[in-house]
Amino acid sequence: MPPSTSSAITLNINGEKYTLPVDHRTTLLDALRERLDMTGTKKGCDQGQCGACTVLLDGRRAVSCLQLAVAAEGREITTIEGVADGDELHPVQQAFLDLDGYQCGYCTPGQICSALGVIQEHAAGWPSAVTDDVRPEAGPPPLTADEIRERMSGNLCRCGAYVSIVQAVARAAEAETAADDARTGTEAAI
Ligand code: FES
Ligand code: FES
Repeated sequence: MPPSTSSAITLNINGEKYTLPVDHRTTLLDALRERLDMTGTKKGCDQGQCGACTVLLDGRRAVSCLQLAVAAEGREITTIEGVADGDELHPVQQAFLDLDGYQCGYCTPGQICSALGVIQEHAAGWPSAVTDDVRPEAGPPPLTADEIRERMSGNLCRCGAYVSIVQAVARAAEAETAADDARTGTEAAI
């Protein structure tokens, strides 16, 4: 009997479980868009070059066009559909809206998912290629425009909305830091 080329898999997407049969060659991007009707994640190049298909896998950024759906089983997948809290936009989404961080919007879901990863990676102290002092004791570098440009460089925008995107990521990161400080202050006062 020839080996089977498909399997039933269960994907954990935005906190919900979805079981579906897939051909083993199906990418996560195609499973999301074509099989599960989650069309928020966009297909730009389909070869890992543009970042339009960026999602979070266990909290880390991944281009879903280069990820096989079968390999995503057992991981926590976050797509743009899972970023807001009901009707309340995530601060990153709100910042993109407030600062016009888009034009056609095609790259925007990937930009937002990538920005979520950037803010977490920066807060965790990860250096980038433009970080001057990469010693662990130096702590997280200031999230300058250069740092944001470098860290977001895997996400292309054909409309050239980069200036506003950088501002939006900076504003969202500041909001996140302020919220963290407020949480820490509240906990210290208890
Ligand atoms: S569609 Fe995946 S990187 Fe372009
Ligand atoms: S807003 Fe059009 S591609 Fe980025």
